Amino acid sequence: MKILVYVLVLLTSCNALQDTGVKLKNFCYYTNWKTQSSDPDIRFDVEHINPSLCTHLLYAFANINEKELKLYWSQQGDDNGKLGSEAAGRYYEFTELKKRNAGLVTLLSIGGQTAESAGFIQIVQSEENMRQFAKNCIRFLRDRKFDGLDIDWEYPDNFKNKYTQFLEVMQNEFKAESTSEKDKLLLTIAVSGGEEHINKSYNISEIDKHVDYILVMAYDFFGTWSTVAGFTAPLYSRKTNLNFNQAYSQDWAIRRWIDGGAQADKLVLGLTGTALSYTLINSSRHDVGSPVSSTIGANKQLTYYGLCKTVSEKWTKVWDEEQKMVYAYADDQWIGYANATSMQEAVHYAYSQRLAGVMFWSLDIDDFNGAACNEGKYPLVSAIMKAIQKESSIGNENPSVLQTQTVSSFTTKKDNRTRLYFVRNGAENCYSSAVLLAWMCLCILVIANIV
Ligand SMILES: *[C@@H]1O[C@H](CO)[C@@H](O)[C@H](O)[C@H]1NC(C)=O
Ligand SMILES: *[C@@H]1O[C@H](CO)[C@@H](O)[C@H](O)[C@H]1NC(C)=O
Ligand SMILES: *[C@@H]1O[C@H](CO)[C@@H](O)[C@H](O)[C@H]1NC(C)=O
Ligand SMILES: *[C@@H]1O[C@H](CO)[C@@H](O)[C@H](O)[C@H]1NC(C)=O
Ligand SMILES: *[C@@H]1O[C@H](CO)[C@@H](O)[C@H](O)[C@H]1NC(C)=O
Repeated sequence: MKILVYVLVLLTSCNALQDTGVKLKNFCYYTNWKTQSSDPDIRFDVEHINPSLCTHLLYAFANINEKELKLYWSQQGDDNGKLGSEAAGRYYEFTELKKRNAGLVTLLSIGGQTAESAGFIQIVQSEENMRQFAKNCIRFLRDRKFDGLDIDWEYPDNFKNKYTQFLEVMQNEFKAESTSEKDKLLLTIAVSGGEEHINKSYNISEIDKHVDYILVMAYDFFGTWSTVAGFTAPLYSRKTNLNFNQAYSQDWAIRRWIDGGAQADKLVLGLTGTALSYTLINSSRHDVGSPVSSTIGANKQLTYYGLCKTVSEKWTKVWDEEQKMVYAYADDQWIGYANATSMQEAVHYAYSQRLAGVMFWSLDIDDFNGAACNEGKYPLVSAIMKAIQKESSIGNENPSVLQTQTVSSFTTKKDNRTRLYFVRNGAENCYSSAVLLAWMCLCILVIANIV
């Protein structure tokens, strides 16, 4: 009987070990600039968010008051500037979403693509400024019940070392403020997935020490400026066509961050619902890589629901197996996009690379009303969440082998990846041996009883 108890204890501890870190996180960005739209198909506000589809929600964006080194709202209605019982605004509605999803984490995001860097540059002028800003942030976030801050400085190109120091100061202040009753505020950063900005902006191994998660914006590899048809966020590089920049993929970006010294379990793979529409130069050439018009206005970005409204029965749709994306064409029109299958592939990738999770830019781009695509509400984000649940539930099956390619010419730091891999597989082996042992013990006991 004693043996059986030991076996049970062993089984339970293996199980506990196995559960750690398996479940991927889903970071979803909410954007506040479609709240004022008069078109009900476009208008997107806090009320449209389905909080059960995400583990982390990020409010994009708040501004920086560079004179006072403080945060402040960017859209009318974010915040009425009052505290206590008079406080009102979208920030409060946003953090209240936690009532509808107990595990939900809410973050306020600062910066963004269109923001001036001036605020950040002012903050990093001195350590004193950084500390002052950190303290002001803490008060601002706590008053509005946010769980953390997301820094989206695009990009700290000429401030590589200052940026590292800034993150260190922020994290230290966040740590100092936390108590046994009050969880530390989370510190995340949104970073570039493009080679040039990565080279210029980040000392990866250093910043990795100071942040909780690194959200890699692994998109915008192709855009309206491109001269051939391509995808904004393909999962894999186009290895079959070496005319393509091989650094233009999510896989490349993630490997670059890992090889630069980021721990895989801090990395979050950024996905997008943005589609790219091009005008082909020769309508009989519609493969990926076909020449497209360079005339301004001929090429556009589309939302996922906008894409669904455009692509009718007349269009030809093609699944691109190499890059795990879809393209559709009709006459001289060509659209490249990610559908629910692309999202599943990306989640599977994040799981097999032992990443922390995925990020989705942005909720308002998905078919949030379910009116355009005939795939229900939030087809892309729902596909992500379903895929996460699926990958977690098959967690005790041997996940596909880690890809061992590295981005050459960068110092590689694989120890932690390898360690993670063995922790996971170790748990699995431990688990299966323990199950076997348990059965053997049961057999022996049964036989002993019979005899
Ligand atoms: C980035 O840095 C690497 C290594 O120094 C170099 O080989 C590569 O050409 C750089 N890429 C860009 C786009 O600056
Ligand atoms: C990062 O910073 C460390 C410590 O200051 C330094 O030794 C290293 O060379 C830096 N690496 C890069 C890529 O900037
Ligand atoms: C368009 O592409 C087709 C197929 O590659 C080719 O046969 C044709 O000559 C092209 N037309 C022009 C005007 O370049
Ligand atoms: C994604 O698009 C491809 C190509 O049209 C299609 O075969 C596939 O079924 C789509 N996935 C979903 C989930 O609709
Ligand atoms: C591996 O990760 C741990 C934290 O999980 C960190 O303390 C350690 O420095 C990392 N190892 C290397 C070689 O970077």
